[in-house]
Amino acid sequence: APRVLSGIQPTGHLHLGNYLGAIKKFVAMQEEMPCLFCVVDLHAITAKLVQDDLAGQTRAIAAAYLAAGIDPERSVIFNQSRVTGHAELAWIFNCVARIGWMNRMTQFKDKAGKDRENASLGLLAYPSLMAADILVYRATHVPVGDDQKQHLELTRDIAIKFNNDFSERIEKTGLGREVRMGEEVVHGYFPITDPIIEGPATRIMSLKDGAKKMSKSDPSDLSRINLTDDADAIARKVKKAKTDPDALPSEAAGLAGRPEAENLVGIYAALSGETRDQVLTQFGGKQFSEFKPALVELAVSSLGPVTGEMRRLLDDPGHIDAVLKAGGEKANEIAAKTMRDVKDIIGMLHD
Ligand code: TYM
Repeated sequence: APRVLSGIQPTGHLHLGNYLGAIKKFVAMQEEMPCLFCVVDLHAITAKLVQDDLAGQTRAIAAAYLAAGIDPERSVIFNQSRVTGHAELAWIFNCVARIGWMNRMTQFKDKAGKDRENASLGLLAYPSLMAADILVYRATHVPVGDDQKQHLELTRDIAIKFNNDFSERIEKTGLGREVRMGEEVVHGYFPITDPIIEGPATRIMSLKDGAKKMSKSDPSDLSRINLTDDADAIARKVKKAKTDPDALPSEAAGLAGRPEAENLVGIYAALSGETRDQVLTQFGGKQFSEFKPALVELAVSSLGPVTGEMRRLLDDPGHIDAVLKAGGEKANEIAAKTMRDVKDIIGMLHD
């Protein structure tokens, strides 16, 4: 059965890239299939163990989910550490995946930096936990930004290897089913997940440098629009955003080699729900001095209600905690069933 799982780490500042690349798509996916949206607090401690306010950051992501329009009656909202199946399945996947697979992950290389020997073991195993997040619900669709593509390929590799390594036992236990693998249909236990990386906002870039991705951890606050920014802050940041001296082209093809222009047009398109070409039909030939104020107005009117609602929700942490608890119970029902199956397949005794 089709099912969505996606997640966001409760670290740093939630920004426009997270909103357009992930949260806004989550809201849309609710119309198509059952969804689970996770706040991945176990992942949050992989790069830096002691967090300033993990509980507060976790509530902030949950508040953003709710404020953006994720409906807790329809979709399951919860924090990862509450459902023990994530860590349990991740351990099994640590034994399925190979060290070489993890060593090749670009995010690991970036985050570990030069001193790889000193990175936490958790940072290396991060993608194995991410595969567990997805597969413990046997989720088939994962909406994410472009930076998660390699992790999702690894999730497919883990599912394929598990299905292959245990193929006889999957057969014997009768727990197998038809699994769609591209055009092919094979027999297995875990589905081969489809990443959903679509639209004009899969990779929002820094406002200060069109070659760098907008990031929660960028030391320059001017590089990103935070979901907590007010109208003045948004106006100031867009005004200061790097651009080139030329007028906007009349179609998207003309944005090639102009990363900053491409980024701002992409942001406009994602906020307005248009394609880049449609945006450029309106703004082609215009200067940034005209385009930027229009972008500010659109950003303020689209984000304002979300940030306002987020602030309101954060005034009542008890309500957010209740949503996470109820979501955790629903998630656990699905995850516990998967863990019983997996233990039967491997041959682990359980109740
Ligand atoms: P995280 O917390 O870094 O980012 C959350 C989501 O936001 C997307 N994103 C962006 N999209 C467009 N432009 C950007 N500049 C930008 N920056 C971030 C990310 O692609 C992501 O979709 N490993 C994940 C969290 C995770 C997860 C999962 C995701 C853990 N388990 C299972 C999906 C399924 C991460 O660190 O995302």
